[in-house]
Amino acid sequence: MLILGIESSCDETAVSVCRMSDSERTVLSDAISSQIEIHKLYGGVVPEIASRAHAEAISGLCERALCEAGVTLADIDAVGVTYTPGLVGALLVGVNFAKGLAAATGKPLVGVDHIRGHIAAAYLAHPHLEPPFFALVASGGHTSLVKVSSYTDFETVGRTRDDAIGEAFDKVARVMDMPYPGGAAMDALAKEGDPDAIKFPSAAIAGDSLEFSFSGLKSSVINYLHNCEQKGVAVERADVAASFTATVCASVTKKLAQAQEKYSYGRLVLAGGVAANSHLRAAIGEMCDSLGVELYLPPRHLCGDNGAMIACQAYYEYQAGNTAGADLNARATGK
Ligand code: KG4
Ligand code: ZN
Repeated sequence: MLILGIESSCDETAVSVCRMSDSERTVLSDAISSQIEIHKLYGGVVPEIASRAHAEAISGLCERALCEAGVTLADIDAVGVTYTPGLVGALLVGVNFAKGLAAATGKPLVGVDHIRGHIAAAYLAHPHLEPPFFALVASGGHTSLVKVSSYTDFETVGRTRDDAIGEAFDKVARVMDMPYPGGAAMDALAKEGDPDAIKFPSAAIAGDSLEFSFSGLKSSVINYLHNCEQKGVAVERADVAASFTATVCASVTKKLAQAQEKYSYGRLVLAGGVAANSHLRAAIGEMCDSLGVELYLPPRHLCGDNGAMIACQAYYEYQAGNTAGADLNARATGK
């Protein structure tokens, strides 16, 4: 089947064509238009501007994705689109565009949950991967521990109580004068510092619950920076980046190890933009080695938002009979 996947939940407009079957997961094209340069000016995503930029980009991107895949709209078997969670105005652009395409061509429409899409990126990177497995979705908007029992059967068993992991990276980076989004710059700077230089509080909630609180950790780093400033003490920026990152890594591996104890999942998938973080990849890799867990890491280009992951998950939703009608609506928060 040829699936067209459309993504517009945040600051990336993306359209992809994937050829999918029970034995094939091929990305034929993956066109992305990032709005980062626009939002950089404001230090974060401005929802109104995001919606407008999606609207401007989407039809050109769709044409590009079809062209690069060497197919026409008539060849497409189903249209998949992210409908939740995300910025509602941004989501609406993709949903309405997909509805229009489906109505004009008579092709089935499939609504895709963005988190499920991030997890599906692992199927594209690992052609033989099948559920069940456990997934950590770590992105700018989400920090979720998810039990994946089948291609369409998901249970979130852990999450953040407040800020998402990527949000913490971006906010700390902003206070350290790094351009938005600061995750990748923080990753690089942390390589030059001492991870044991400063003690920050863990983001792992104490006890059995598989929950995080990144807001406390973020505030503690920001307070540290302000304190140094007020006292006129020079800040070792690389040490702050390294210590903050090490605390994030220790918090995440702690909860993943607890989850392995509880669910004996044996196989772990990393997903989402923050899964590109080299320190987190290494820390989780070590944890998996020591616990005998098989780790599936998507390549960095499939960690961030893209249309291919949406097309891939749309295929499995379609196979399960989860098609949508013209009443498909955008929803800001997931289930
Ligand atoms: O998955 P994604 O593209 O969008 C959402 O669904 O949120 O994730 C974007 C997030 C941003 O917060 C960005 O700073 C973060 O992923 N990110 C990173 C790295 N690369 C991107 N965070 C830490 N280290 C990185 N190397
Ligand atoms: Zn995302």
